Amino acid sequence: MCGIVGYTGHEQAAPILLDGLSKLEYRGYDSAGLAIEGKENIEVVKAKGRLRVLEEMTDNGNALSGTCGIGHTRWATHGVPSVVNAHPHCNKKKTIAVVHNGIIENYQSLKEHLIKKGYEFESETDTEVIAHLLDRYYEGEPLEAITKVMVRLNGSYALGILFEDHPGKVFAVRKDSPMIVGSAPEGNFIASDVPAILKYTRTVYFVNNMEIVCMEADNISFYNLDKEQIEKESTTIAWDAEAAEKGGYEHFMLKEIYEQPKAVQDTLSPRIKDGQIVLEELGMTEEEIKKLRRIYMIGCGSAYHVCISARYVLEKLTKIPVEVDLASEFRYRDPILEENSLVIVISQSGETADSIAALKEAKRKGVRVLGIVNVVGSSIAREADSVLYTWAGPEISVATTKAYSTQLAACYLIGIYFAKIRQNISDELYEKLVEELTKLPEKIQRVLGDKERIQWFANKFAASKDIFFIGRGLDYGTSMEGSLKLKEISYIHSEAYAAGELKHGTISLIEKGILVVGVATQPELYEKMISNMVEVKSRGAFLMGLTTYGNYSMEDTANFTVYVPKTESYFTTSLAVIPLQLFAYYVAIARGLDVDKPRNLAKSVTVE
Ligand code: M6R
Repeated sequence: MCGIVGYTGHEQAAPILLDGLSKLEYRGYDSAGLAIEGKENIEVVKAKGRLRVLEEMTDNGNALSGTCGIGHTRWATHGVPSVVNAHPHCNKKKTIAVVHNGIIENYQSLKEHLIKKGYEFESETDTEVIAHLLDRYYEGEPLEAITKVMVRLNGSYALGILFEDHPGKVFAVRKDSPMIVGSAPEGNFIASDVPAILKYTRTVYFVNNMEIVCMEADNISFYNLDKEQIEKESTTIAWDAEAAEKGGYEHFMLKEIYEQPKAVQDTLSPRIKDGQIVLEELGMTEEEIKKLRRIYMIGCGSAYHVCISARYVLEKLTKIPVEVDLASEFRYRDPILEENSLVIVISQSGETADSIAALKEAKRKGVRVLGIVNVVGSSIAREADSVLYTWAGPEISVATTKAYSTQLAACYLIGIYFAKIRQNISDELYEKLVEELTKLPEKIQRVLGDKERIQWFANKFAASKDIFFIGRGLDYGTSMEGSLKLKEISYIHSEAYAAGELKHGTISLIEKGILVVGVATQPELYEKMISNMVEVKSRGAFLMGLTTYGNYSMEDTANFTVYVPKTESYFTTSLAVIPLQLFAYYVAIARGLDVDKPRNLAKSVTVE
């Protein structure tokens, strides 16, 4: 969480830094700050609240002169959102300024040590210890001080640092928190994520753990912990700046919902050649695929929901047992991982702390890890044995939509590909599944066409206190995602239940008028679902049914029905989730909420 930027070059720094921060606000938005190297000293400006407060205070950065600086947008971990706790943090003389993304786990003991040495603290943050530690070890040589500090810090950090007596230089380091470096003729940049610098450059360097960056207007140097200079190759980012803008939509979330047909198409089409799925990216031989005995699927939040849905698809198609875990649980449960198994870690950002830890745990136990990742060059992409990129483009809205859909598509590809190699499915079924897969983008587009009805219905239930989602099999996975989407942006309490489980307790929560969304797309479970829906209806629930065209008997039970096109039952989550995303979006809009930046959340959860 938190976004950091840095710039040194030939232009005025503050407007560039503010522009970069505006693209990172999804990572945290409770306070923001800038440190700019002025003519004589480092000038620090901080503000509580959204970035626009800082923009107003500084006349969009124009009030701050200087061509070198660092900036930060915060998601509070240590200490409440306030001006004092906002970054940058400085040493007492204000000659060193630091912005930080991550958590310093041993900050308390470091703080006590520094207080004994006479240092005074202003804020409640863990970051302030870094500023004072740098001060303690600084004797005119930044690399020396930075490396001394790095070996004393436990936890995760990406840091941007200014030293007043090294004008025109931005220093940066990272350990387990994301950080990229961008290079352009106008100057050089550091940032937590690519969209922050896309307007200026697509030439990017990925910084590895424990590497140090020293940036000047026309030069970038990289060092290891031994202060030896290291060479790095740059990467050209395919995303363009426009993809990270709202493009006429009121919110990023709506734009991203509408980008789903293209995102799914972009994820599927490079991997389907002449009707055949080609997945050389997995780096697995046919022999290895045939030998697979178990698949572990791991993620957090929506990525975890993809795992839940994908389990049904992968097990049915490949006949390989699939275990699904929350990354935050997997990392600490000392899992017993079978030989000849595959761990699949799913993550949009590729920087989720728990997912990275789960990946490391799997690798420590000698199991092959495949990452399904959206952000090119992210930590999971680099640390996994192989990576299957989802080509969703930059996802800015905190609530994921297009990344979720592309992750599902990636799982379908793997399922069908493995099933073919393991000879679990006939050639006819293989052809049918591949053909149907290629029709998914167009079918998602059709579902999007039904938005007005969903908007009307969302307005009707926007004042709800509780909303339940129920489903069986794949529809249970879809229900979980629909429920998360709703609660994270509308703040309405919501739960998803496996429909068969309701009568074991939860049904006691059903009262007159409460909205229950029944997802029923699976032909073999349709009648069972109708029975469960009747059970809640007879306890007073108002029912929204979500099913495929043709299942018109749904209207005998549901008060309001939404239909999605028919597809192979393996793929229905991809269609059924769309109305649920739209429903969540329009409920949040009707409640007047900030859809793209819901309270207490951040897009990329880089802390435990
Ligand atoms: O970047 P990741 O896919 O690893 O993120 C995982 C979750 O934090 C994420 O899916 C979260 O649940 C979303 N806000 C849900 O919309």
